[in-house]
Amino acid sequence: MAHTMLPDGTLTGQTAVVTGGGSGIGLGIARELGRLGAKVVLAGRKPERLQEAVASLAGDGIEALMVPTDIRDPGQVDALMNQAVEATGRLDMLVNSAAGNFIVDSDKLSVNGWNAVVNTVLNGTFYCTRAAGLKMIELGHGGRMLSIVASYAWTGGPRTVHSVAAKAGVVAMTRTLAVEWAHYGIRVNALSPGPTDTEGARPLWADPSEEARLKAKIPVGRFGTVEEMGRAASYLLSPYADFVNGEVFVIDGGEWLGKGLTS
Ligand code: HXC
Repeated sequence: MAHTMLPDGTLTGQTAVVTGGGSGIGLGIARELGRLGAKVVLAGRKPERLQEAVASLAGDGIEALMVPTDIRDPGQVDALMNQAVEATGRLDMLVNSAAGNFIVDSDKLSVNGWNAVVNTVLNGTFYCTRAAGLKMIELGHGGRMLSIVASYAWTGGPRTVHSVAAKAGVVAMTRTLAVEWAHYGIRVNALSPGPTDTEGARPLWADPSEEARLKAKIPVGRFGTVEEMGRAASYLLSPYADFVNGEVFVIDGGEWLGKGLTS
């Protein structure tokens, strides 16, 4: 499938920080950015998971380092960006893939539960975006940012009100900063994956009848792969997308469009 990929070397000499890079979609994106030549800095809460991810990337010939980070702590986030620049001399790309979510009826959601998700998804994404943006502005070489969102940010999503509200905030932040920071040479976009086959998401469809029900809602009839998310993210972060700014790129097999009365 080489024809679906950007050429090797497209991102050579550049540095990408990927939050949530130890697993799932974040790791898939890190792998593709690395394949294109970028040095990747993986951030996440669990050092063992980051270590495994770095080893797995090294097996593909990708230079990666890890910085254990809780993105809910602005001090740790500043230290992450400082370490990325100290180690590589640059900071060209930020991928906000760290997130947390659980399915719960809204009338059963506690204030702590709301805060756990909103602090990670909305506040954590802002802390990372702010800290990376300040570095890019200071270094003067511009940059690109990409946040992982979900289409329920604009359709609504019963039983995920915390995540829905937080992702909607990230979409609004993306569009706002795309305008404010363009003159620094910083592009800001979002990627909105549909159901993607990852270890974290798989428990959602552990029951085969649930898997069939979810797949039936996706016009192309299957879940996405982390490789597909990696390729879409790489396009948006590459010079091929230099005129794409403030966009939310949906990659879901057409799932979110299938909301009509007859579908
Ligand atoms: C109800 C829950 C809960 C659950 C946590 N809480 N999990 N309530 N159902 N399943 C509540 C707790 O009861 C507590 O409130 C509050 O949230 C904080 O809980 P902690 O465990 O202390 O929070 P924390 O350790 O900060 O955990 C954050 C998290 C966690 C978001 C809750 O699950 C997390 O970090 N997950 C990251 C991984 C993840 O979410 N993977 C999913 C990826 S797949 P009280 O009031 O009791 O103190 C994916 C696809 C989703 O996202 C697709 C669509 C749905």
